[in-house]
Amino acid sequence: MNALAPITASRRADFPGIADWSYLDTAATAQKPQAVIDAIASAYGPEYATVHRGVYARSAAMTERFEAARNTAACFINASSPNEIVFVRGATEAINLVAQTWGMGLKAGDRILLSRLEHHSNIVPWQLLRDRTGIEIDVAPLTADHRIDEDALEAMLTPAHRLVAVAHVSNVLGSVADIARIARAAHAVGAKLLVDGCQAVPRMGVDVQALGADFYAFSGHKLYGPTGIGVLWARGDILLAMPPWQGGGSMIETVTFEKTTYAPAPTRFEAGTPHIVGAVGLAAAMDYVSAIGLDAIDAHERHLAGIARAELRKVNSLRLFGPEDSSGIVSFAMEGVHPHDIGTILDEEGVAIRAGHHCAQPLMDVLGVPATARASFGVYNDESDVERLLRGIARVKRIFG
Ligand SMILES: Cc1ncc(COP(=O)(O)O)c(C=O)c1O
Repeated sequence: MNALAPITASRRADFPGIADWSYLDTAATAQKPQAVIDAIASAYGPEYATVHRGVYARSAAMTERFEAARNTAACFINASSPNEIVFVRGATEAINLVAQTWGMGLKAGDRILLSRLEHHSNIVPWQLLRDRTGIEIDVAPLTADHRIDEDALEAMLTPAHRLVAVAHVSNVLGSVADIARIARAAHAVGAKLLVDGCQAVPRMGVDVQALGADFYAFSGHKLYGPTGIGVLWARGDILLAMPPWQGGGSMIETVTFEKTTYAPAPTRFEAGTPHIVGAVGLAAAMDYVSAIGLDAIDAHERHLAGIARAELRKVNSLRLFGPEDSSGIVSFAMEGVHPHDIGTILDEEGVAIRAGHHCAQPLMDVLGVPATARASFGVYNDESDVERLLRGIARVKRIFG
């Protein structure tokens, strides 16, 4: 057992949703610790009121909590100001927001560069933008071990590129991109860098300033927080220059039928009553993982992914995808067995994995399979979960011969 075992052994007890279940689907959504559930219950219970509008004390207190959550999020990713944090529904909404506001400043002849391993939420918003503006989309290839090929990406960049948009950590493979290098390459040709940080924030410390990103997007529910809340971070100067997105209450300064003026960022991008309790729950989740330490979580998940890969490799007719140093996510396929059948048999053994294309169909084409089985780890997992996974795989082998 590694040095982190005592921490994670006690972490399982923090999660009322787990008991003795081997939950290996954290990349889809993480289970919630009691601290987050308590924060949500209290925010919907004795603390509940609207924000930003009420003149009564409860509303003022809730407004303070909501804005404190923004501050927690800013500190969590080392933003230079809480005003750089826009609360959104999740990573999908964050990327669509950028495409539909900042992106509308692009024109035919401009290009954006993605990679082959992107989640659909970092592909389709750009295709919609392409349909509206006439921009072109380029796609950087992967290396043989399924990382973004950063040499090729650099070589593809031209002054026509206005944006590079890539995942920090692949949701299928756990491969980690060298974001600082990609940022330097993007900036060298005058392009901005958007990072889909959905799978990075739950498993490694993220410092948006050190990375040199311009936009960073993630969802709360993969970070042990609630669904329906996430963060779009953008550098202050970029955010301030972006036109409004959805119109409605809260995002305005003054409204007349002749002319409306808009609030500064981030309020300008938060039309309507926000997900107040979601923001409070997200801050509780950030406090929870920060107290464990993101470096410890990263090391722990890599350790579990490493053992899983080493043992799965011994199973003949099983193909492993992704790099050896995968950060907490392991995808594989078994010859002659559909990943859904693997998932169903593992479920009977008390092991939850994900089977499918993981919203990354272009990546499946690169891997040469329609779907994979994916085990992804979290703070509540330990080596017993890997052992159970392997016992389940042995049963799959027995059943399918
Ligand atoms: C890498 C990555 N990007 C984006 C998303 C979309 O996140 P959400 O559905 O929470 O908006 C996911 C979710 O699976 C993901 O793993």
